[in-house]
Amino acid sequence: MKINFLTLFPNYFDSFKNESIIGKAIEKGLIEINIVDIRDFSQNKHKKVDDQIYGGGKGMLLQIEPIDLALQTVSGKKIIVSPQGKVFNQKLARELSKEKEITLIAGRYEGFDERIIDYLIDEEISIGDYVLTGGELPAMVIADAIIRLVDGVIKEESHTNESFENNLLDYPQYTRPREYKGMKVPEVLFSGHHKNIENWKKEKQIEKTLKNRPDIIERIKDAK
Ligand SMILES: C[S@@+](CC[C@H](N)C(=O)[O-])C[C@H]1O[C@@H](n2cnc3c(N)ncnc32)[C@H](O)[C@@H]1O
Repeated sequence: MKINFLTLFPNYFDSFKNESIIGKAIEKGLIEINIVDIRDFSQNKHKKVDDQIYGGGKGMLLQIEPIDLALQTVSGKKIIVSPQGKVFNQKLARELSKEKEITLIAGRYEGFDERIIDYLIDEEISIGDYVLTGGELPAMVIADAIIRLVDGVIKEESHTNESFENNLLDYPQYTRPREYKGMKVPEVLFSGHHKNIENWKKEKQIEKTLKNRPDIIERIKDAK
């Protein structure tokens, strides 16, 4: 099995690749790890890969272009690690361990331009209801759980959960360019109409929470 990590911090993966069970699985040829530096795909002379958020909001977002270009160098299932994803579990680890190749995309800053999620990837996965500074650790957590389920890595016998404020996930966010390969940023964000933007954000928060984490809504209903 081949696992690609898309990251802005390739060094995070040094120990992960070399130590213990994973190091041995690589030595044995059961696993191949490929680290892809997203910055290598920046078309900007300063190697910039992030920009300000349309419609307002603090921080910076990862832009679509470098990620699109980096993803063109890999194949198989493409997964973004994000607190807005469905929560990772053993069942999912087992399913993913059957893949020939997967790619785990590690975010930074406020996360990703939402078009990356809508158009470029297959799945959005969270490691739990908390927010880390970056996706490298979650990507390694997910990869670790998958690798140990790959045939031959460990003995078969050994195989015996910001976004959650107000009980809603974050709303979709977008940064430059306004249009990329026909993929457009929603018009409401350029309206300058604060109330409409806020309503849109709230609507999208509810939409996304119902889509990705209906269990959160069920928990609120149960508590009433
Ligand atoms: C500061 S976080 C962005 C949080 C985002 N603004 C939100 O509220 O959902 C930066 C990056 O860290 C990673 N990350 C943080 N917490 C995570 C979690 N619980 N599961 C998976 N990835 C996580 C993601 O890749 C994310 O894009």
